[in-house]
Amino acid sequence: TVSKVSAVQILDSRSRPTLATTVTLSDGTSARAGVPSGASTGSREAVEARDGDLSRFNGGGVLDAVAHVNGEINAALAARAFANLAEVDQALIDLDATTNKSRLGANAIVGVSIAAARAFANSEGLALWEYLQPAGVNARLPVPHFNVVNGGVHAPNNLDFQEFMIAPIGAPSIAEAVRAGSEIYTKLKQLLASKGFATGLGDEGGFAPQIDRPEDVLALLVQAINEAGYRPGRDGVAIALDPASSEFYRDGFYKIAGESLSSTEMIDRYEEIISTYPVWLLEDGLAESDWSGWEQLTARLGDRVELVGDDLLCTNPAIIKEAIARHACNASLIKVNQIGTVSETLEAMRICRDAGWAQFVSHRSGETEDTFIADLAVATGCGHLKSGAPARGERVAKYNRLIEIETVSTLGYGLTT
Ligand code: PGA
Ligand code: ZN
Repeated sequence: TVSKVSAVQILDSRSRPTLATTVTLSDGTSARAGVPSGASTGSREAVEARDGDLSRFNGGGVLDAVAHVNGEINAALAARAFANLAEVDQALIDLDATTNKSRLGANAIVGVSIAAARAFANSEGLALWEYLQPAGVNARLPVPHFNVVNGGVHAPNNLDFQEFMIAPIGAPSIAEAVRAGSEIYTKLKQLLASKGFATGLGDEGGFAPQIDRPEDVLALLVQAINEAGYRPGRDGVAIALDPASSEFYRDGFYKIAGESLSSTEMIDRYEEIISTYPVWLLEDGLAESDWSGWEQLTARLGDRVELVGDDLLCTNPAIIKEAIARHACNASLIKVNQIGTVSETLEAMRICRDAGWAQFVSHRSGETEDTFIADLAVATGCGHLKSGAPARGERVAKYNRLIEIETVSTLGYGLTT
């Protein structure tokens, strides 16, 4: 039985307001959650509530969402005997009564859902990942995808592609994967500095050099991987890209480094890139509205790289089903706040599993020290997690949680396959 639900306004990693929520159960267990927030959001994501009062935080305050938690949500949940998280999440969905959680705010709802999951886990004496683990699924430690170069809307440079990640797929353990991430990140910083580039950071803790062409960044990454003593490729350290291309798609063309490319030309460019560099995964290679482009992309490159839909799918079970039917991609990004409850997130992941699709659990560019996504990735055995650079507290909190889980469990590490 839930006895109390509450929230306060705190700051996220980008100095924007967000919520810290607390759920207390009648047995006295209580748990907190910090709510993440994106910048390159998909148009079909659940909608977060922002106050819009321009005299405070430039309109970005979340006091209305906080009031919804402390008022309406607390009144609806307190003293009710919920058997499990799914019932709490259904009560939140029913109370909000919109399709995109815009009435109470997806930020309010997801904060309560995550804190409730943690409270139930604590109450049952289980690790959070054990509580979340679906029946019949083998838990495992995911390959961390460290975002080491930031562009797009996450950095003030001219780089159109948003994320350049390194993935130590061939590492023997999380501890060694984190070591590889850290050593390559440090090597990359030295390389950038030696070539006269600034080594300031973007929103997810990666470097944000003034480089325009993605290929030039990829060449530097391969050099950094080699010079740090690792092997570039799937048996060592591979590369993953999230161009977040909806952000540079205008009037039917991809505007990249001074060029204007059609969908087919953009796919040609990716084909060239994956033939030249050890890129194993491509997220949001095409825009969320370019479904025919995605079908072409999957037909042409789907057996060579994992093609992950983020803005395209928004962790939304209905959209994922449509994409599966249309062969629009072959994997889904998973962000809890895109859909708004933990139960719906687990449902989205189940649909992917049943279709043989990979799932890539993800942070947001605006984060807190909350480590929920580390446990979610472990519980579902999905093999992939991205939480930004191997630097900055809100990013490393998730990787450090994986190390902690590895230390106290006997779980295996690596991609599911
Ligand atoms: P966001 O970006 O959190 O700013 O939306 C992350 C992503 O595109 O994967
Ligand atoms: Zn993305």
